Amino acid sequence: MSAVTVLAPAKINLHLEVIGLRPDGFHELAMVMQSLDLVDRLEFSNRADGAILLRCEGADLPLDGSNLVVRAAERLRARVGLPELGADLTLEKCIPIGAGLAGGSSDAAATLVGLNALWGLRQSQQQLQGLAAELGSDVPFCLEGGTRLCFGRGERLEPVPQPLTDLGVLLIKDPAAHVSTPWAYGRCRALREDDYLSSEADFEQRRQALRQAPLLAHLARGDALQTLRNDLQAVVEPEVSSVSRGLRLLRGLPSTLAVAMSGSGPTLFALFPGRRQAEEARERLGPALHEAGFDAWSCGCRSRGVSLEAT
Ligand code: C5P
Repeated sequence: MSAVTVLAPAKINLHLEVIGLRPDGFHELAMVMQSLDLVDRLEFSNRADGAILLRCEGADLPLDGSNLVVRAAERLRARVGLPELGADLTLEKCIPIGAGLAGGSSDAAATLVGLNALWGLRQSQQQLQGLAAELGSDVPFCLEGGTRLCFGRGERLEPVPQPLTDLGVLLIKDPAAHVSTPWAYGRCRALREDDYLSSEADFEQRRQALRQAPLLAHLARGDALQTLRNDLQAVVEPEVSSVSRGLRLLRGLPSTLAVAMSGSGPTLFALFPGRRQAEEARERLGPALHEAGFDAWSCGCRSRGVSLEAT
């Protein structure tokens, strides 16, 4: 294979509950994540000189070994013991950066899939999942995608009885606002002090409550929900002024099913029964969003994670 293209979808959190603090310093989470059809595109081609070279036009991103994409490529070739493998990686960035949409994690997951195919490595999905979890908490979800329950650091995935396929999503983000995930979790820790669960039995009780929660059944039926839970929203909202302004704008829209922040923010989203309503809302709110300095996207839900683009 001389070249491979992979699509890397964004995600939103339909539920993000910080339930505890773990001995490894990470937070124990109970989440529902949903892939979106807002995607980055990555192209991979072979290089004979063993270098791994990332290019990305127009986005303010590091292109060296500090980029998770380069780390994913290096880790994959180290894992299979073939350090001589090289590749050109071209990233077309559509998912906003530092936004709580897992763009960087999804690009890393796409790199595992793309280079596994390009280099003919035949690593199984399970082996790729192992590498994904080493790269970051959201990378395993990005690999699998669709609608999933995510536990542990975020890397323990479970299927849901009712994947969401029809929902429309309006996303808004102030282009000047960025939130660092470590900062958001650090702030959460400072605010909560010792108010965390720490026993596995307590964690499991919270997981079970989420497995049985009617959230997805409500959304699949198109029922409006008062709230979607994101524990990081209360942490980020007082610090990032665009979050409260944006939530007010979205809550004023008719026919939304729910409004929330995604991940550690600052991207906000509103859910609609279908993609058409999300697009109509984007058009209706366009002038107000523009005036308030927000970028906006409307999209649908996607039933899978990263995927090779059909040629
Ligand atoms: O796993 P990832 O590299 O994406 O995590 C970034 C940072 O976010 C971690 O270093 C940690 O500070 C925080 N984090 C956490 N608990 C999680 C996931 C992330 O505290 N479950």
